Amino acid sequence: MRSEKIIDVRNLTESSVTLQHSSLEEERLQIKQLLHLLAPSDANSSIGRDVIQGLTHIPKTLPPKYFYDDRGSQLFEKICELPEYYPTRTEAWILRQYAGEIAQSTRACELVELGSGSSTKTRLLLDAYHALGYPLRYIPIDVSAGILESSAKQLLREYPSLEVQGLVSTYELALQHLTPTQLPSRMIFFLGSTLGNLNFQECDVFFSQITAALEGGEYFLLGVDLQKPKQVLEAAYNDSQGVTAEFNLNMLEHLNWRFQGKFDTQLFEHCAFYNDQVNQIEMHLRCLKSHSVRLEALDITVDFEVGETIMTEISRKFDLDVIQQELQAKGLKPRQVWTDPKQWFGLILCQHC
Ligand code: AVI
Repeated sequence: MRSEKIIDVRNLTESSVTLQHSSLEEERLQIKQLLHLLAPSDANSSIGRDVIQGLTHIPKTLPPKYFYDDRGSQLFEKICELPEYYPTRTEAWILRQYAGEIAQSTRACELVELGSGSSTKTRLLLDAYHALGYPLRYIPIDVSAGILESSAKQLLREYPSLEVQGLVSTYELALQHLTPTQLPSRMIFFLGSTLGNLNFQECDVFFSQITAALEGGEYFLLGVDLQKPKQVLEAAYNDSQGVTAEFNLNMLEHLNWRFQGKFDTQLFEHCAFYNDQVNQIEMHLRCLKSHSVRLEALDITVDFEVGETIMTEISRKFDLDVIQQELQAKGLKPRQVWTDPKQWFGLILCQHC
């Protein structure tokens, strides 16, 4: 087991830096499970409360977190590679072009990634920081212990001086439990425009949590999907191979498994459109035939009318000026923005002031 020793790179001599280059990968790895610290109201026994609330709400809704069982996570990885789904490759393009600049401007020694998943885009940042030649600590945060551990081990093999301290946790919990870094500087990053899946109020709370987790002068790097023609947006969420439809319908399979439900996915269809009044994609499941569904573990039976929908996700599309003002208002001062030639996606580097 790795000791809990904190390394201050300001005090590292050349020989102590070399000590970091341990061939024993486990010595550079620490994974902490925080999910057991969830408040009783969020704990496993009452996890389905949000499902009951959503399905008894008018109109019906379900939280997007229920997309991500194993199958859902695989489908999401597949979505990221679809020709119509531009956000992943556009953000990766920006990172490929500018990761060096990001590393140079922040010179952070500790990188905290929210929702790290398989850490694919992370490598572009790690390469750039690695090139600066000092020891680096990477703190991936993800609710999936399996993905976190396998990608951490892979990164340790690829980066012989990297220290990884993963947190199996929700963002909120992890941000509360991040102790001030004893390394010179921290950067928290949140890629993929996952911010867009939060509504305005959730976003406001999230920014406050980021501010609280940073010391003055530390950094926050945010990836945001930008407003663009409706056809491009609607194609991205209604792909020709039907992967997004499968991803959406899989939420019902997930609920069946988790809550002993009896959803018949044949009785629903995927529906996604851009609501240009509020600049967001809305994903729904539309009921094709009136019927009732029992969720045994939650002890509820839900009635559906033909044509009725369950909203499963919003994906907000941002205006660069507006989002920067919102960040600034929360004490996160935008320092630099990078985008692609079509201005479809933005990376905003903020500094806590
Ligand atoms: C995770 N999130 C940023 C994706 C998005 O584009 O809002 C989820 C997604 N939903 C359908 N396709 C992808």
